[in-house]
Amino acid sequence: MVLRVEPSGGACGARVTGVDLSQPLDPATVTEIRAHWLEHLVLAFPDQQIGDDDLERFTGYFGGFGDDPFFAPIAGRRHIAAIRREADEQTPLFAENWHSDWSFQAHPPAGTCLMAVDIPPVGGDTLFANQHAAWEALPDARKAEQVDLIAVHSARLAYAPDGTYGAKDKGRSMDIRPGEAALAVQTHPLVPAHPETGRRGFFSTLGYIIGIEGMAQDAAIDLLRELYAWQSDERFVFAQKWEPGMLVMWDNRAVLHRATGGYEGHRRELHRTTIAAWNGN
Ligand code: SIN
Repeated sequence: MVLRVEPSGGACGARVTGVDLSQPLDPATVTEIRAHWLEHLVLAFPDQQIGDDDLERFTGYFGGFGDDPFFAPIAGRRHIAAIRREADEQTPLFAENWHSDWSFQAHPPAGTCLMAVDIPPVGGDTLFANQHAAWEALPDARKAEQVDLIAVHSARLAYAPDGTYGAKDKGRSMDIRPGEAALAVQTHPLVPAHPETGRRGFFSTLGYIIGIEGMAQDAAIDLLRELYAWQSDERFVFAQKWEPGMLVMWDNRAVLHRATGGYEGHRRELHRTTIAAWNGN
């Protein structure tokens, strides 16, 4: 199998062809894909004839499944969630704010896989922001102020009973299950070294980050707001356009992502797995 990898030419992302994800992959191919993933941070595999079994098998090659709270899985699967929006749906767009998946967990997922199920003819791009590039472009004086900060993460703004996807969120086609567990907090370094590449970058952003350890709340929110704008500056952003038959995997330790609209009147559905935290093997 000869992989062809075409970098997006943008802040991150590459298109990978020459591999059939409907078939088991040999260890050498998995190793090669992993290396490209760590280099380009977002990989898109177009023109695949795949289903949920293939998505699960592919996820397993990269560390097994993460733990996905607050979503009910699709029928008959424990680890696949549907990111779905019906053509006539009026709810606010799901995941429209920049984030790193489940960054509020003690061991957040290394990555996420999204498989096209129903792709609208226009719009619905997923945007990715390269957080190594965002950190590296920061002036040295700001780096010195921020390098040792510890961020406080929580799912509360999104998934608590009074959060964005809580009791007031009516008419959503996605099966989101808010709960009190979202009130928990978890700390992580604001700019950790990537566990596999050693490259430093911002991890997550305002939203799942709700404060900075040892900093007054007003000052922390001001800093996080400023960083949110910096982290998602257009020079760090790549727009992934979806195609039927496409699978996209990204590195949650290195990029932020967010959904976009622009497909009103059309249905959109993707099946999602998370890749468990890397355990060093
Ligand atoms: C997500 O954040 O999991 C969904 C992204 C998208 O719908 O494009």
